[in-house]
Amino acid sequence: MFPIDRPRRLRRTPAVRRLVAETSLEPRHLVLPMFVADGIDAPREISSMPGVHQHTLDSLAEAGERAVRAGVGGLMLFGVPKPEDKDGEGTQASDPDGILNRGLRRLRDEFGDGTVIMADTCLDEFTDHGHCGVLAADGSVDNDATLVRYVDMAVAQAESGAHVLGPSGMMDGQIGAIRQGLDTAGFADVSQLAYTAKYASAFYGPFREAVGSTLRGDRRTYQQDAANRRESLRELDLDVAEGADMVMVKPAMSYLDVLREVADASPVPVAAYQISGEYAMITAAAERGWIDREAAIDESILGIRRAGADIVLTYWATEVAERLAR
Ligand code: PBG
Repeated sequence: MFPIDRPRRLRRTPAVRRLVAETSLEPRHLVLPMFVADGIDAPREISSMPGVHQHTLDSLAEAGERAVRAGVGGLMLFGVPKPEDKDGEGTQASDPDGILNRGLRRLRDEFGDGTVIMADTCLDEFTDHGHCGVLAADGSVDNDATLVRYVDMAVAQAESGAHVLGPSGMMDGQIGAIRQGLDTAGFADVSQLAYTAKYASAFYGPFREAVGSTLRGDRRTYQQDAANRRESLRELDLDVAEGADMVMVKPAMSYLDVLREVADASPVPVAAYQISGEYAMITAAAERGWIDREAAIDESILGIRRAGADIVLTYWATEVAERLAR
């Protein structure tokens, strides 16, 4: 007549819930993605991501300082060149004076080895057509010609002081090509956080505004199809074989099943990227008073951790890290 098993006993008080919590969230688990823009003289808020800015070099250093002080695990930098500096090959990506490489140098000068400085290793911010690689004569993205550009970009980022490169273009063989290029150039110590399972997602929308993307069409010939699960395990095997030091699943919230499977199979640390559209959804609903903002943020990140992420890239990294320290 009465239940023998009463799971509610372990939910009775905050103290007992804390005692038995399986998943934790610490500042070191969080990585802050940041944008540094060329040709602006004050930080510019991204309209579809309230609270997130395109930074000047100075405001980048200030926001980085606050994140590092809050104890975040690292910073992931994206570059936003001037529109007139974009071209078919994404030349600025491998130019030491390109905005991303200048931003990396500034962060390394400010923080040395005191945090982990990560660089987005992808051409889309720098190409005038907005694709993640260079185009073949028929307009398709040329995989192997793109690898040559990624190697140039990777070496420039390593020279600029990045500790970790994040190849996000989903070209076949990118991790192996970059590894070989880095080693040959004397950067055997620079590591790669491979975007292993990156899906073609509608939730990247706000990011495209954030980086001033000129993309027409879509990325479905290189990013993964939302219908698929198995190919993420294949991508994991390939990236690990090619020398990935860490792997990533992206987006996070619509792909928690993929994250769990990758985490179970991975011999290296696993990251997940809570992307711009996920940030925008929670922010917009909270602005309307439809959800409790802080509780929704914490629950979303805890869910990503529970699904297997060692590391979570999130635009709320500083805010959450500061809240955890209170
Ligand atoms: C491409 C890249 C994208 C994001 C990070 N790197 C967008 C895309 O593939 O179109 C998205 C990040 C986000 O949405 O927050 N280099």
